[in-house]
Amino acid sequence: MSLVYRESDPVRLSDDRRSIIAIDQRKLPGEVIYINISTADQMFDAIYTLAVRGAPCIGVFAGYCAPVLAASYKTTDTGEFLTKLRDDLNHIDSSRPTAVNLSWAVKRQLALAEGCAERGSSTGEITEALYEEAVRIHEEDIDMCLKISEAGLSLLKDGDGILTHCNAGALATSRYGTGLGPILLGRERGYDFHVYSDETRPLLQGARLTAYELVNAGVDETVICDDMAAQVMKEGRIQAVLTGCDRIAANGDVANKIGTMQVAILARYYGIPFYVLGPYSTIDYATPNGDQIKIEQRPGEEIRDMWYSKSMAPMGASFYNPAFDVTDNSLITAIITDKGILRPPYTESIKGIQAGE
Ligand code: MRU
Repeated sequence: MSLVYRESDPVRLSDDRRSIIAIDQRKLPGEVIYINISTADQMFDAIYTLAVRGAPCIGVFAGYCAPVLAASYKTTDTGEFLTKLRDDLNHIDSSRPTAVNLSWAVKRQLALAEGCAERGSSTGEITEALYEEAVRIHEEDIDMCLKISEAGLSLLKDGDGILTHCNAGALATSRYGTGLGPILLGRERGYDFHVYSDETRPLLQGARLTAYELVNAGVDETVICDDMAAQVMKEGRIQAVLTGCDRIAANGDVANKIGTMQVAILARYYGIPFYVLGPYSTIDYATPNGDQIKIEQRPGEEIRDMWYSKSMAPMGASFYNPAFDVTDNSLITAIITDKGILRPPYTESIKGIQAGE
């Protein structure tokens, strides 16, 4: 296989293919640490605790989980091998429910393994096929990021002020990213954007990760608290909003990081285009609308304790911590995918790209 890994890739396979090397996104921006992940429990934990995060990146990671696990099984019995693989991958799949890319990659790898087994492949041959498929998933992700970045850039003007929420850059994908892709690609081509990055409470992906990526790329950027978005829009500083996505329902409703919906509502109020950027694989045709998307609930301690030396609320206070929200398709100006730019009515345009129109 031809993929040449870069150190900046958030996930990559070790040379002996026995583990996945991942940037520990929990430690950024203070420390750039790489962790080696080789067991199913470590894989589950890496996703659940957001060491590995961002929908497409989780998909690439899950792709690599399959050959790493497969190589660790001692058995040469294909039935037993498949049972172990199914159990482990389904366990990993249960770590985070909202982003579709995780279950998409798990299903893709399991279908491949089952197909190989039906054709009489040995466990060694199945492991090799899983490795090749994982690299293919990674290569496809790199390719889709570039296509999305190009398409997104075509909607922006030099000098635009852009608001983004959470982190949809290279850390959340493979190179360039989706929501940040047009900005990073534009920067390489000499565009000057000014990017406002919502800090994105409670896990601060905007302040920690988006700002880290933008500063490293030399993009003019400003971090704002989530409750400042209306003010910067009102002051005329924002010409477009760009966000990533975790799941796109068949009618164009979009699940993304908690807080995205309120940004979309504000953008509509101030007449600012609200663009969602994500790969075709994020479209979930089996989910007719956003009401059917399962929203991950996370512990209240993330709000109370995570970034404070002392708890910021009294013991005994209760917390509600949904990790995602769903933006109604009526608030979305366009959905930018690697297969083209989708415009309302989304039920039609989303059906159209499935049919290759
Ligand atoms: O909880 P996270 O950090 O995994 O949430 C990430 C997001 O919501 C991103 O916007 C989304 O996954 C798209 S990443 C290209």
